[in-house]
Amino acid sequence: MAKIDFGGVIEDVVTSEEFTLEMAQEILKNETVAVLGYGVQGPAQALNMRDNGIHVIVGQRKEEQEFWDKAISDGFEPGKTLFPLEEAAEKGTIIQFLVSDAGQVEVWPKIKPFLKEGDALYFSHGFAITYRDQTGVNPAENVDVILVAPKGSGRSVRANFVAGSGINSSYAVFQDYTGKAKERTLAVGIAVGSGYLFPTTFEKEVYSDLVGERGVLMGCLAGVMEAQYNILRKQGHSPSEAFNETVEELTQSLIRLVAENGMDWMYYYCSTTAQRGALDWKSRFRDAVAPLFEELYESVASGKETKIVLESNSTPDYKEKLGKELAEIRDSEMWRAGAAVRALRPENRNKA
Ligand SMILES: NC(=O)c1ccc[n+]([C@@H]2O[C@H](COP(=O)([O-])OP(=O)(O)OC[C@H]3O[C@@H](n4cnc5c(N)ncnc54)[C@H](OP(=O)(O)O)[C@@H]3O)[C@@H](O)[C@H]2O)c1
Repeated sequence: MAKIDFGGVIEDVVTSEEFTLEMAQEILKNETVAVLGYGVQGPAQALNMRDNGIHVIVGQRKEEQEFWDKAISDGFEPGKTLFPLEEAAEKGTIIQFLVSDAGQVEVWPKIKPFLKEGDALYFSHGFAITYRDQTGVNPAENVDVILVAPKGSGRSVRANFVAGSGINSSYAVFQDYTGKAKERTLAVGIAVGSGYLFPTTFEKEVYSDLVGERGVLMGCLAGVMEAQYNILRKQGHSPSEAFNETVEELTQSLIRLVAENGMDWMYYYCSTTAQRGALDWKSRFRDAVAPLFEELYESVASGKETKIVLESNSTPDYKEKLGKELAEIRDSEMWRAGAAVRALRPENRNKA
């Protein structure tokens, strides 16, 4: 554990310097990690662990050919390292439950009978356990229940690992039957390629995650972008101008400075005109959205958000409806303007 000062608050974090990959390999040497679900997180975590010398098998339902075939193309062999979900759960000692959150509700009763005493049931989200009154995921007392939640898309979990970097993850133990739940959790956390690991609980993980994605990371981001684009268009600015001032400058320039060295760094490298205005307006925006964030947190904590997710994600036409909603965004003037702006980037101009 390393004690790190996060803005004046000391927290214990784990990196591969104190908890080395060799330690993780030693702890996991007699374990079979069964990754159930080969969607987004599944492949990333499975491939990173396999590259790190961990014994990994994949469980995926065969009827949906796409992900089964993807596992084969990634080198998993049917009957050897690739199995139907139930069979993989039976063979695994650490069972990574990485089917979609709504899918877990349907899959849980099928895999539950295959969990053996001393197995670890692993999640990358606190969803199923925290809202178990809604999901029905109630593990028996004789298994460990653990979590490593990468704070990024599975695509980045794999891409950063391949590039020699990592994605930070939180970790938690909900149930420690074997007395080894924490070391198993940290070992898997290191093996999946986490940048660093910070402690949480299942509840805190899911609350913060649901707030984050509905808020700044995705929902709020898209909403405030639209609001600004719309006012610029309403006042007679061209789509190109409105898009550049709303999205392109952010993604191509400013947010990269924030990532590099923080918000003050970005402010410092902007014009004095921009600095003054941004400093004055920052707190007005914060205060304007604060009540909405209160409402959002409450909606998450009360279980309202997960109820909506479970209802909508388990309808048979979910993917079709999602396609329509995403097409609506893609086909809007703002994001069509975005496609044109992206195509004009020098590196994209000569592409066929
Ligand atoms: N997406 C991310 O980057 C991300 C980031 C952090 C944490 N997480 C967490 O990681 C876990 C996995 O998420 P994900 O986004 O990787 O999932 P996903 O891509 O939505 O999951 C797809 C996988 O779930 C399977 N699945 C879905 N419904 C099923 C059902 N009814 N029966 C059997 N299999 C079913 C799919 O198989 P079929 O093709 O057979 O349907 C596929 O293998 C979740 O707990 C999520 O919250 C995800």
